[in-house]
Amino acid sequence: MPPMQSGRASFEGAVTNKLINFYVRRSSVLGLPIVEHAYVSPTGKIGPKQLGIYDDSLIGGFEKLAKGLHEVGAPAVVQISHAGGVTNKKVIGTEPAGPSARPKTRMLEVSEIEAIADNFASAAERAVRAGFDGVELHGAHGYLLNQFFSPLLNKREDEYGGSLEKRMRFPLLVAEKVRKRLDDKFLLYRLGSDDLAPGGTHIEDSIVFAKKLEASGVDIIDVSGGMCGSEPKQLKHIKGYFIPQANEIKKAVNVPVIGVGGITDAFFADKLVSEGKVDLVAVGRAFWRDNLWAEKAIQKLSVKPIP
Ligand SMILES: Cc1cc2nc3c(=O)[nH]c(=O)nc-3n(C[C@H](O)[C@H](O)[C@H](O)COP(=O)(O)O)c2cc1C
Repeated sequence: MPPMQSGRASFEGAVTNKLINFYVRRSSVLGLPIVEHAYVSPTGKIGPKQLGIYDDSLIGGFEKLAKGLHEVGAPAVVQISHAGGVTNKKVIGTEPAGPSARPKTRMLEVSEIEAIADNFASAAERAVRAGFDGVELHGAHGYLLNQFFSPLLNKREDEYGGSLEKRMRFPLLVAEKVRKRLDDKFLLYRLGSDDLAPGGTHIEDSIVFAKKLEASGVDIIDVSGGMCGSEPKQLKHIKGYFIPQANEIKKAVNVPVIGVGGITDAFFADKLVSEGKVDLVAVGRAFWRDNLWAEKAIQKLSVKPIP
């Protein structure tokens, strides 16, 4: 199950019983449920009732969530995020900041960039303290790590912008800092693999980036869209619409790769894995609509075909 913001946290971002029930109910047959994105700093929040992991006072809720997931035999992994320049003043109470200045967004100072990398590291440490088995960095769908990677939003002329090398610097700094706090826990990276826009990032850039992420200690790469978002209109009618990008990345790295996008059919999902296109498949909206999707998939796939 890919991360899907459920709007079940408290206004302060704390885990609620409603949120725990949502995950525990769905997770008993899942290999890897990824808990929805949690903001690492109040300035990185994007909406009300979004899950947060920006303060030690929130650890207790995550402890209960990890315990609930472990009790049904599932691993506990949470996605951590910062919305950067795509949030708004109404949500964070101050002007949003991103890699470059845009209308209603100011440019982050280098000292702030480094502080945000530390916010990610502290958030990861909180997840570990709460008993989580890993964290996923949200580097897709136009969130802050993706904003730095994409030349569409990153117009900086310092060490954090310009060439591909420099645009990868901030997300790689975050991955390295987070890796250090995770000990032996898992580090996943959700990679915005293609902006699907002229002048944006393309799969060639993402292949280079994926190799760097692997070298920085990322254990699993979760391949989705970049600035085009998770459900781009030009692709969303295609079954497995980000699988081609995931497959290209899988060919370039040795760590497992997750594929996602418009997967609703258990046989199709199984084929993607058995044919080696990807190592894991994520099923989002189909699972959201039917919380028995995974049970039904197991039943369908366990019926032996008539010879
Ligand atoms: C309601 C909803 C909330 C989502 N929240 C997140 C999120 O927190 N983090 C993230 O990386 N993607 C998020 N996504 C994107 C999904 O993880 C997934 O990539 C997308 O829905 C495409 O997969 P699908 O076609 O199987 O639904 C969300 C999608 C939906 C529909």
